[in-house]
Amino acid sequence: MKHIHGWAVPLLLGGLGLLMAGLASGQPKEKVDFVGAEVCLGCHGEGYAKGWLKQPHGRFLMDPKRTFAGKGCEECHGPGSHHVEDPPGHILNPTKASAKEDNAACLKCHEKRIKKHDWQTSGHAAAKLRCSQCHKVHSSAQNTRLLAKDQTELCYDCHKQVKGQLVQNSHHPVREGKVACADCHDIHSGKHDGMLRREEKALCTTCHGDVKGPFVYEHDPIVNGYTEPCTTCHRPHGSPNTRLLKFSGRGLCLSCHTSYAVSHFPGQTCWTCHSRVHGSNTDPNFLFE
Ligand code: HEC
Ligand code: HEC
Ligand code: HEC
Ligand code: HEC
Ligand code: HEC
Ligand code: HEC
Ligand code: HEC
Ligand code: HEC
Ligand code: HEC
Ligand code: HEC
Repeated sequence: MKHIHGWAVPLLLGGLGLLMAGLASGQPKEKVDFVGAEVCLGCHGEGYAKGWLKQPHGRFLMDPKRTFAGKGCEECHGPGSHHVEDPPGHILNPTKASAKEDNAACLKCHEKRIKKHDWQTSGHAAAKLRCSQCHKVHSSAQNTRLLAKDQTELCYDCHKQVKGQLVQNSHHPVREGKVACADCHDIHSGKHDGMLRREEKALCTTCHGDVKGPFVYEHDPIVNGYTEPCTTCHRPHGSPNTRLLKFSGRGLCLSCHTSYAVSHFPGQTCWTCHSRVHGSNTDPNFLFE
């Protein structure tokens, strides 16, 4: 029984009882029971679960006012009486389950915020990502949302091309800390194209209200059901051109207004005159007011 010395004695009592029962019978009992988080912490308290009691799961799952109070660890790992008698076996290690099963165990409690169906439509579910690749439910680092690391760095691990875009001449100020990936993207849902939080125009105009309209004179591509009302002309992350534009000069407009290429004020950028390209209340040709 030498290995007992490292255990946290006050937490041990319940575990010891079960352990003795296990030893006495020589075999794990048939029926598997919940033993309570105190017992688990008796062996795992020093290492893995350190800090856990201070985190959202520890605090909430151990809150005596809650119906599921006490089980704690076993909410995710399943009932542990056999494991306690005969470690390290007889317990669910989520990383050994399939991504689908692993994630379903998290979603069963988080359905309110993350609908299973929405999750399944996301690129992340399709790529068989696990919740625990981004969220470290055991880490004692107090990152927001239990993230494995700073949000932006986490995304860059897998989306390197976006990192490159966000340092271009014109870019959304993610690096500067003014906008975050998750302001625009819903990491857990593919309900909207590109895993956006909202349909594109609604999303962009939450922060850019001045281009929202409605205007007396609307510019067709922004209002008439185009799938990319903003990204027809803008890149979302970054661009070598000013104002996140896809093209620097007349080409941007000529892609649709082909007949204006030659004879209509050649050599000049269209929006030096048509500066109200998002719509105007005074001029049908979106000329400056
Ligand atoms: C009597 C000591 C003891 C108790 C009590 C105990 N464990 Fe363990 N557990 C171990 C040992 C030893 C291992 C193997 C080494 C390690 O991973 O720390 C282990 C491994 C695990 C693993 C990994 C299993 C695998 O297949 O990789 C999980 C998960 C786990 N324990 C969860 C729990 C939970 C949940 C409880 C409470 C229900 C608990 N343990 C109670 C000793 C214990
Ligand atoms: C919210 C769900 C959840 C709760 C609650 C939870 N765990 Fe875990 N546990 C996981 C997940 C997911 C993993 C595997 C991925 C990881 O390490 O983040 C894991 C991994 C482990 C492992 C390591 C297995 C290995 O690969 O070596 C141990 C040991 C463990 N948990 C023990 C505990 C103990 C003890 C408690 C209670 C104090 C607890 N867990 C509470 C979800 C949970
Ligand atoms: C038994 C129910 C239950 C299970 C299972 C569960 N959680 Fe939780 N989770 C909670 C509760 C309760 C909270 C704290 C209250 C809240 O923020 O909703 C929480 C909080 C969180 C938070 C932090 C939210 C915040 O606001 O900071 C994240 C992230 C999270 N859980 C991810 C997971 C992951 C990943 C898994 C699977 C490994 C998981 N949860 C499994 C109940 C659960
Ligand atoms: C690719 C990384 C990634 C994966 C995979 C992931 N999450 Fe998240 N999760 C995040 C980020 C980033 C946030 C913070 C979003 C924010 O700040 O608005 C978050 C937030 C949360 C929250 C807090 C509530 C909220 O919506 O802000 C919960 C709960 C949560 N995730 C649970 C889960 C569950 C359950 C899974 C698996 C089905 C999962 N996450 C998979 C990155 C991820
Ligand atoms: C562990 C790797 C990984 C991490 C971390 C990760 N992603 Fe992903 N992401 C993927 C994979 C794989 C896909 C699906 C293939 C693709 O479209 O690139 C994907 C798809 C996406 C898509 C959808 C692309 C489309 O065309 O529909 C968006 C948006 C996205 N991720 C944003 C994020 C954000 C924001 C974060 C940080 C919170 C993040 N990802 C973290 C791997 C990851
Ligand atoms: C200002 C809003 C905004 C921010 C901030 C933002 N994105 Fe995007 N992202 C978009 C839009 C819009 C799209 C195009 C969606 C579509 O295809 O319909 C997109 C597309 C993507 C795609 C699909 C592939 C591609 O490059 O087109 C990935 C992956 C992605 N974003 C990841 C990220 C990551 C990672 C971050 C943070 C580092 C981030 N995004 C920040 C709006 C944003
Ligand atoms: C969460 C808020 C937010 C959302 C959503 C958002 N933006 Fe922005 N956008 C910003 C901020 C902040 C700046 C930088 C403003 C500054 O530096 O004065 C910016 C700058 C811009 C600029 C000017 C860039 C420059 O170089 O001057 C354009 C164009 C732009 N956004 C277009 C869009 C488009 C298109 C969308 C939708 C895909 C979008 N934004 C979504 C916050 C947002
Ligand atoms: C037909 C092309 C086109 C479309 C579609 C378009 N824009 Fe623009 N946008 C421009 C041009 C050109 C400029 C540069 C104007 C300048 O520099 O004077 C600009 C500038 C901007 C700016 C920065 C300057 C300002 O006016 O505040 C923002 C923000 C912006 N657009 C957001 C949006 C949003 C949001 C949408 C979708 C609702 C959108 N744009 C759709 C062409 C377009
Ligand atoms: C995606 C295609 C598309 C792009 C790109 C585009 N437009 Fe348009 N624009 C239209 C459509 C469609 C109309 C409606 C009238 C029509 O059919 O010509 C319109 C109308 C106009 C009008 C009003 C005059 C009229 O004929 O009703 C002006 C001025 C205009 N655009 C200028 C511009 C400028 C300047 C740019 C570049 C910043 C631009 N457009 C980019 C499709 C586009
Ligand atoms: C020097 C200023 C200036 C520049 C540069 C300019 N325009 Fe115009 N545009 C005008 C004026 C003024 C009108 C209204 C009078 C007219 O029809 O000539 C107009 C009218 C238009 C109309 C509407 C014509 C109609 O029949 O109602 C369109 C479409 C248009 N311009 C597109 C463009 C495009 C595309 C570019 C760039 C390739 C461009 N403009 C560059 C000043 C300019």
